[in-house]
Amino acid sequence: MSFYALIPAAGSGSRAGGGGAALKQAPKQYQPVNSIPLIAHTLIVLAREPRISKLFVVLSPGDVWWDNYEWQGWEDRITVLRCGGTTRAETVLNGLEAMADQCSADDWVLVHDAARPCLPGEMLKKLLDEAGEDAVGGLLAVPVADTLKRDDGASRVDATVPRAGLWQAQTPQMFRHGMLRQALRAAGSDITDEASAIEQLGLHPRLVECDSRNIKVTFPQDLLLAGLILQHLND
Ligand code: C5P
Repeated sequence: MSFYALIPAAGSGSRAGGGGAALKQAPKQYQPVNSIPLIAHTLIVLAREPRISKLFVVLSPGDVWWDNYEWQGWEDRITVLRCGGTTRAETVLNGLEAMADQCSADDWVLVHDAARPCLPGEMLKKLLDEAGEDAVGGLLAVPVADTLKRDDGASRVDATVPRAGLWQAQTPQMFRHGMLRQALRAAGSDITDEASAIEQLGLHPRLVECDSRNIKVTFPQDLLLAGLILQHLND
């Protein structure tokens, strides 16, 4: 049984100030963080893990940025698939379909957002150890720390939501190729993570506790934060 990483990287990153209508600025995965594109940090962590045999990067068919960078030396570790969709779920499913002839249904696939460059290597190992022993698979997640409010639709508090037992889902999310493909085909394109698709099959993915360093770069200020976290990741 093998482990593969699938990295959805077909978003326009409009909330981070990239992409958008004019597409003058590169999407967030290509924004520089500590002198290299954000996606390179993400790929370095995954490529350093010896149990992961290959990284499949799923780009938008119209991506004009990937080829602007030097990927020499990565050829044995990375396969680029230019089949991203209009939603993250579509991108992941298209990627799973495209890699199907290179893996078996029982192989593990770790889906990891290109926009999460600060994944600590020890957390990746913990996920492989714990979810790799699980019949269903699992995901990195963090227990909710803040008090949660539900609004009334008019910027006022309707209710306080008890946070006990609530987690924020992160990535990687790790499931067997065959099961994940079946789940995503059935789930449609509205879901925002792989675990939700697996849950819709009536299964219960394992929660593997991570921490707040594994941020998803979403807004412009997150790029600065990611740079700071990366500087201290190996302290
Ligand atoms: O938009 P969001 O922050 O949820 O994106 C999470 C990840 O999914 C990013 O790495 C982004 O590039 C990817 N994505 C994708 N295809 C889309 C939308 C998002 O691969 N259509």
